Amino acid sequence: MVGFAAASLLAAGLLTSCAPEPGPDPSTPEPSGKPSPTPDAESPAPETSAPDANAFDKTAYSIDDSDSIWVIVNKLRPLNPQSYAPTDLVVPNVASTNGQPLRAVAATATEEMVAAAAADGVALHIVSAYRDYDTQVSVYGSFVANQGQAYADTTSARPGHSEHQTGLTADFGGDDDCTLDTCFADTAAGTWLQKRAAEFGFTMRYPDGAEGTTGYHFEPWHYRYVGVALAQELRAQDVATLEEFFGLQAAPDYAG
Ligand code: DAL
Ligand code: ZN
Repeated sequence: MVGFAAASLLAAGLLTSCAPEPGPDPSTPEPSGKPSPTPDAESPAPETSAPDANAFDKTAYSIDDSDSIWVIVNKLRPLNPQSYAPTDLVVPNVASTNGQPLRAVAATATEEMVAAAAADGVALHIVSAYRDYDTQVSVYGSFVANQGQAYADTTSARPGHSEHQTGLTADFGGDDDCTLDTCFADTAAGTWLQKRAAEFGFTMRYPDGAEGTTGYHFEPWHYRYVGVALAQELRAQDVATLEEFFGLQAAPDYAG
């Protein structure tokens, strides 16, 4: 079944005024006979409301705007409009099955990632990158025609619902026989990506065991550019999906 996938894809105070909070008047002496308040060793330390300067800002970019590098697209969150097309597509200067472009920021990150892999002796190439709405009509339609809609919906996104249409996603292959196959996870290219992709801003979008959240079978070849900060935060927090990280509802199925 996965072999067929390969064949087909190849053709996110309470004070209301600005008046200063009242404080002690330094000219007023402490009343005599009354001890100054001292911390009680048995009382809990006062809670601080100061924000953690090191906390990750989950609002740094929109997860709704189709032009945002954090846009979250799934079965319940189509692109807006569904015919969305990015305006800064460029063809990355890396080996590619069909020369499909990516958005400029993802293309540059891909070039850097593929070069880093090569420096480690690992061959990486693009199998599929940006696919516009009409191309996804064709890809999804082919899956439906050959394997039925129920199966198609576990492996191919409906037009207007594919991360490939954001221009921020690429399917990667190596020099093995596991292109667009789950065995890619255990290849040199697949394992390199799992270890290093976050350094370049990519995250594996459909990890093993997350079908109940993403709606798709394990795709160890499908990487989504989200920027280095988010990709590395996902790893640091050991969060598998964008839906979980941003507290979105799981999207195993389309609405209605
Ligand atoms: N294979 C992924 C789900 C897509 O079609 O976008
Ligand atoms: Zn993909």
